[in-house]
Amino acid sequence: MKPIQVGLLGIGTVGSGVFNVLARNQDEISRRAGRGIEITMVADLDVDRARAAVGADIQVVNDARAIIANPDIDIVIELIGGYGIARALVLEAIAAGKHVVTANKALLAVHGTEIFAAASAKGVMVAFEAAVAGGIPIIKALREGLTANRIQWIAGIINGTTNFILSEMRSKGLDFDVVLKEAQRLGYAEADPTFDIEGVDAAHKVTLMSAIAFGIPVQFDKAYVEGITKLGAADIKYAEQLGYRIKLLGITKRADKGIELRVHPSLVPSKRLIANVEGAMNAVVVQGDAVGTTLYYGKGAGSEPTASAVIADLVDITRLATADPEHRVPHLAFQANTLTDAMGTLPVLPMSEVVTSYYLRLRVADQAGVLAKVTGLLAEAGVSIDAVLQREADEVGGEGSTQTDLIILTHDTREGTMDAVIAQMQALPTVLAPITRIRKEELN
Ligand code: HSE
Repeated sequence: MKPIQVGLLGIGTVGSGVFNVLARNQDEISRRAGRGIEITMVADLDVDRARAAVGADIQVVNDARAIIANPDIDIVIELIGGYGIARALVLEAIAAGKHVVTANKALLAVHGTEIFAAASAKGVMVAFEAAVAGGIPIIKALREGLTANRIQWIAGIINGTTNFILSEMRSKGLDFDVVLKEAQRLGYAEADPTFDIEGVDAAHKVTLMSAIAFGIPVQFDKAYVEGITKLGAADIKYAEQLGYRIKLLGITKRADKGIELRVHPSLVPSKRLIANVEGAMNAVVVQGDAVGTTLYYGKGAGSEPTASAVIADLVDITRLATADPEHRVPHLAFQANTLTDAMGTLPVLPMSEVVTSYYLRLRVADQAGVLAKVTGLLAEAGVSIDAVLQREADEVGGEGSTQTDLIILTHDTREGTMDAVIAQMQALPTVLAPITRIRKEELN
């Protein structure tokens, strides 16, 4: 059978990786796929860079639409990124009857419903293994490997930039701003790191995993998103003294009234494997009712790790291209006509309805009755305390200090209840600075 023909839109770091790995492992890949897979066209605004990356035998153009218009191209790989031109080109490629492979989590998390509907109507596949956790085959695991399970929850370190920053803050005792600058210098953080450090990139990824795990539409607009910019070295240190590490987790969980979908810094017990995932590495824990807890670990970004995921999608599409569309794996794991609607039986819960436990740090006046007042408010609200740590005033504020840090760990509490009690504690005259609240996940 003649090789399947692929057009590549955008040949930066990941595109070059796809090209190189495909060339290097061509023989094994085609033995697995059942036929050859050939990149025959590449589009990039920087034609000279593209030409240097792919050599003379491959057609290089500066107009992505020339690839979409080419009837010989079977699969389009979109590696442009963003919601703008990428959305238009993906929809045009689908309309032209091309299968699409994309690493674009932002695009699918925001416009996935439209894109998957267009693909289903046209009978083509949209594959996106590379969009979540780079080289880790987590989409494959959720969509196929764990298909017997009722998934209970997923918690992942799915942003390498922030995990690198948190690891450095912990091991070197440094503040966020200092480590961010160092991460930028080393190339671990982008010049504009907003999407990473504010949790948006992780929220895109957990939105996709949530849809696949629970059979709900992609609903990025309902995700709660909080990044790591306000974390201080002191909280990382106190967490460690209490037996926890702080990680930026993407969490999605089946609760009584709906689905939790959230990204925020979380205390995780130091003894959990995921708490020990350091540097730019990614890891995802999935809890299913039959399988129990499973853990997936690997590189979440980079040229060849991401290429590994893109090429896995190329192989899947090559194997299934001639199959009846109804016999392919559904885009979001569940048959499209069985996805709950956004307001249906499985709504994404507002953050006030999320139930979790908390780390609170209060800067208080070091005088009689302060601890009693604070714990009294918690007791009145029905919040159960798990642990309390109070540092000596001298240790916190220097010799002769009249202030100290009070750290409280709670048991599970509804977020709305915690918001109200934090407001009451904040109003006490002996609470001297804004209260720090970090959520805590036991992951057991
Ligand atoms: N910027 C992401 C990260 C990789 O730091 O993990 C691409 O999503």
